[in-house]
Amino acid sequence: MNTSLKLDKKDINHKLKDKAIKNLNLSLVNNSSLKSYFEPLIQPFAPKWSTSLFRAKVTKVSRLTNNVISIRLKTSKQWTGFKPGQYIELTTEIEGAAVTRCFSISSSKDVWKSKRRIELTIREQDQGRVTPWLISGIKEKTYVQISKAQGEFTLGNAPANKLFIAAGTGITPIISMLSSKVVRSDIKNIDLIYFARSEHIFKDRLVSLANLRKKQNLPPINLHFIDTNEDGRISLNLLKNACSDFQDREAYLCGPGGMINETRDLLESQGVSQHQIHHEYFGPTQNHKMLETLSKANVEPREVAFHSKQSTTQVTSNSNATLLELAETAELNPSYGCRMGVCHQCKCTKKSGVVINSLTGRPSDTGEEEIQMCISIPAGNVQIEI
Ligand code: FES
Repeated sequence: MNTSLKLDKKDINHKLKDKAIKNLNLSLVNNSSLKSYFEPLIQPFAPKWSTSLFRAKVTKVSRLTNNVISIRLKTSKQWTGFKPGQYIELTTEIEGAAVTRCFSISSSKDVWKSKRRIELTIREQDQGRVTPWLISGIKEKTYVQISKAQGEFTLGNAPANKLFIAAGTGITPIISMLSSKVVRSDIKNIDLIYFARSEHIFKDRLVSLANLRKKQNLPPINLHFIDTNEDGRISLNLLKNACSDFQDREAYLCGPGGMINETRDLLESQGVSQHQIHHEYFGPTQNHKMLETLSKANVEPREVAFHSKQSTTQVTSNSNATLLELAETAELNPSYGCRMGVCHQCKCTKKSGVVINSLTGRPSDTGEEEIQMCISIPAGNVQIEI
C-alpha cells in the first residue's frame, strides 16, 4: 500500500519536473526541447550530434550487383544494438529534404558487439525516390541518421528447428540471423530455401556459414538455391523435397507480398499452424490479384473523409491509391516511414467503411479499428481520423 503511494508521488513529482523544464525551454527558446533547438546550431560543428535519432558514419559502400549495394555503418556509442532480423529507419537528405526509409540489418550481431558496425543491403526500387539516390549517391565518410532497431521478425527463444524461406532481398534479415552466434550454436536443423532470379546475393557468404557450421561439428545448414526463372515458385513438391519435416519447423518467410501469401497459404494448407509462421514483407507491396479484382469491382468512385482536430478533407478515389497516397494528394501531411507496412508509423483510426489490406488482399471489417494508411486501399466510402 505504502509503496504504491510512494510511487504515485514519485510519478507526480517527475511529471511536474518535466512540465517545469518544458515550460522553461518554451520561455527561453520557443521550443519544447532545448536539445532540438540547439541541434541545427551544433550539427555543423559536431555532425554526430542528434536528439531523437542516432548519427552513423558510412564507412564502406560495396556494390553487390548492378542494382544492389551494401552500406557499412559505424554506429555511435549511444545506439543500443539490435536483434538479428530487425530493421532500422535510415534518414538522409535528398535535395534539401529529409527522407526516411526502413532497411533490414544484414550483418551479424557479433560483429556489432565487437566492432560497433552494421551493414544494410539495399536494392534499387524501380519507382522509388530514395533507393536510386542511395545506390548512386551515398558516399563513404558521410553521416546518416538511424533510428533504434525495430521489428518483430526475430528468432524466438526456443531452439526449435527452423525453415527459412527467402525471395530476392528478403534474404537480408535472414542472413543476419544465420550469421549470428545464436543460430550457429543453439539451433539443430536449419534449412534455407532461397528464391532469386538467376543471381543469389550472399551466396558465397551462405556457403561459408554452412561450412563453418560443419567445421564446428554442428548439424548442417541445408541450402537450397532456387532460380525462379528455371524452377518456378514455391510448390508442395519443392517444399517436401527440400525439407521433408517442414510441418514440424518454425518457418521464417521474407520476400514480396505475393510470395509470402502463397507460401503461408501452402504451409497452412499442410497443417502448419499460424503461430509457427513468422513473416516480413519486402519489395512490391501490392497484391496484384487483389488489385485486379478491386479495379474490376470498383468502377464507382469512393469518397474518403480525413478528419483531423481542425478540419475535414474529402477526397474522391477512382484508383487503387492507398490512403497514404490519397492523403498526400490532398496535401495533408500524415506521418509515414517505410511505406510498405513494416514500421507502423502511418497508423490511424478508421472510423467506418471497408479498406483492403494491399499485402494480404483481405478486406477489413466495417467498424472502427486501427489501420496502416500505406497499405490500405478504400473499397468503398471511408471515414478516417488522422
Ligand atoms: S509507413 Fe511504415 S507501415 Fe506505413
